[in-house]
Amino acid sequence: MIELRSDNTAGVAPEILAALQAANTGSALAYGGDDLTAHLHDVVRTVFEHPTARAFPVTSGTAANSLALSASTPPWGAVLCHPSAHIVTAEGGATSMYGGGAVMQGVGGSHALIDPERLRSALDKVRWGDPHESQPSVLSLTLPSDFGTLYRPDEIAVLTGIARERGMRVHVDGARIANAVAALGCSPADVTWRAGVDVLSLGATKNGALSAEAIVVFDDRIADELVYRTKRAGHVTSKMRFQSAQVTAYLTDELWLRLAANSNQRMAELATELASLAPYGVRLQERVDVNMAFVELPSTAIDALASEVLFYRMSDTSARLVTSWQTTAEDVAAAGARFREAVTRTG
Ligand SMILES: Cc1ncc(COP(=O)(O)O)c(C=O)c1O
Repeated sequence: MIELRSDNTAGVAPEILAALQAANTGSALAYGGDDLTAHLHDVVRTVFEHPTARAFPVTSGTAANSLALSASTPPWGAVLCHPSAHIVTAEGGATSMYGGGAVMQGVGGSHALIDPERLRSALDKVRWGDPHESQPSVLSLTLPSDFGTLYRPDEIAVLTGIARERGMRVHVDGARIANAVAALGCSPADVTWRAGVDVLSLGATKNGALSAEAIVVFDDRIADELVYRTKRAGHVTSKMRFQSAQVTAYLTDELWLRLAANSNQRMAELATELASLAPYGVRLQERVDVNMAFVELPSTAIDALASEVLFYRMSDTSARLVTSWQTTAEDVAAAGARFREAVTRTG
């Protein structure tokens, strides 16, 4: 079986395992009081070119998002995001729970990306100062989006500029931020604080870490709140050094970008092969900017493929395919051949 269900299905990168092994010597102060956690702040400051950035290790992307957002919004606030955003479709309302009742509101746009005009128009319609209405307090962007599409740094800056005019803060759900930075070829700062972002959920687990993510904060007021909020949520883990060691190894020598470049490259190869099957009713439903593709194909072909390739079936005639740091060129060649065989045989 060729694995294309999710990058979450991949294992732990050898470099991260080595970092865990190296951290596993002697004893260290618990709850983040250790040297590795202190060092993580320096690493984040260097990689993000921000002198006061702070990092809070957590164990899941849902925790990173909901805690980052709860520290950025008052309970009467509204977090604006694309209707397809993971925070609103797949996190069980965690942001509202940690945010003391803050709501999430969708602002649409094509390619699963928020449209600036729609954002402006949504904000123009708000009854600002009216306690009957939730007050938009945070703009949350997902980079890459849940459909694997990217905002460019200048597009992020336009959106954050609109939010800032209304005194809102800006969060980025970066569960796959490495894939975005690798594909855009920009500096991590360019898609975060330099483009007006206050707080980032820095994903690592999907791209080679072992249940380790970090909230990276560029605004001290949000960081000061997170000190308490992460503890109350049970994310100040006693053996934090093992999370810090992983995130440090991940961000060192561009490991995160090398791992992501592999998954992006493998998906680019697969997408090229799928695009060549257009005469057989295969269609890419969305731009392929990173390591994810949504593909439409005859249901008979999907049925035939199900015993050979692992993927998420989105509907009778569509599937989601995701590559990971572990996917090889051979995997992709084999998957492409099976798609070709399935559509030509059943077409
Ligand atoms: C865009 C995005 N954000 C956040 C998450 C949440 O991560 P976790 O499953 O670790 O809570 C995911 C997981 O699939 C995701 O795809």
